[in-house]
Parts: sequence; structure tokens; C-alpha cells
Amino acid sequence: ERPVSYYEQVGGAPTMRALVEAFYPRVIEHPLLAPLFPEDIHPVMEKQEMFLTQYFGGPQLYTMREGHPRMRARHIRFPITPDRATAWLSCMQQAMDEVIEDSMLREQMMERLAMTAYFFVNTEEHEA
Ligand code: HEM
Repeated sequence: ERPVSYYEQVGGAPTMRALVEAFYPRVIEHPLLAPLFPEDIHPVMEKQEMFLTQYFGGPQLYTMREGHPRMRARHIRFPITPDRATAWLSCMQQAMDEVIEDSMLREQMMERLAMTAYFFVNTEEHEA
């Protein structure tokens, strides 16, 4: 028997879309995060939707289009401080609160994302 993925439990593709749409408006308004992102956020949203889909156990959309995620390496060119990881997670928490009803699932998904976000920290400096 196959365990049911987070992706399926929270409602699949429409939920991933809604999550990304709730998340990025917050990111581009956040003083610590905004300076890192391009003016046109839509390509980032598309890739994040594909990535989160597979990250939470859905179809491997990101890998099919972009190749091996190597997601920490893809973030190396951006100065990711602990404060920025916390800011990213706070935007994501708000997006999840808005989009995902089950608080237990939200908590488990946020726990996973927190490990990933702090793993992406690549500088202790506070810039921007
Ligand atoms: C891309 C920042 C954490 C997934 C990016 C970009 C920035 C960024 C600046 C590139 C935008 C561009 O294309 O110019 C951050 C910061 C984080 C963080 C400050 C704080 C820790 C995460 C986490 C995930 C993630 C935890 C996934 C769980 C992605 C994906 C992309 C991306 C999928 C697109 C990659 C691609 O171009 O193929 N991020 N990120 N990020 N980020 Fe993050």
C-alpha cells in the first residue's frame, strides 16, 4: 500500500496553485526578500508550483522540466541569511494558513519546509 502524499491530502494541483498565489505577493512585499526577486515574479511562481508539487509527493513536474532540483545549489547566488530563511517561512506560514484547512497537515508541511529553508542558509551576514 502506497502512503497518501501531502500533495493528495491537501487537494492536489489546485491547492499547489493557490499556495503559490498566496505566497509570492507576500514575498515581494517583504523588505528582506523583495530585493532578491526579479521584477516579473511569474516564472518563479511557475517553477515553485512545479517544485512544491513534487516536494510534497505529487508528480515530478519540476524534474521533468528543469532537471535535478539541486535546490540548495540553485540558491547559492543569493545571500540567504538566517533572517531571510525565517522571513521566507513566515510568508509561507501565512499562505498555508490561508489555503490549507487541516492544521495538523499545515504543521507537518511547515516542519519539512523549515528544515529545507535553514539548509539553504549560505551566509550569516545581514545585507540588503
Ligand atoms: C528560486 C530565494 C527558500 C524553492 C528562488 C529565487 C530566489 C529565492 C531569490 C530566484 C528567483 C529568480 O529566479 O531570480 C529564497 C530564499 C529562501 C528560499 C531567500 C529562504 C530560505 C526556498 C525553499 C524552497 C525554495 C525552502 C523550496 C522548498 C525555490 C524554487 C525556485 C526558487 C523551486 C525556482 C528555482 C529555479 O529557478 O528553477 N528562491 N528561496 N526556495 N526557490 Fe527559493
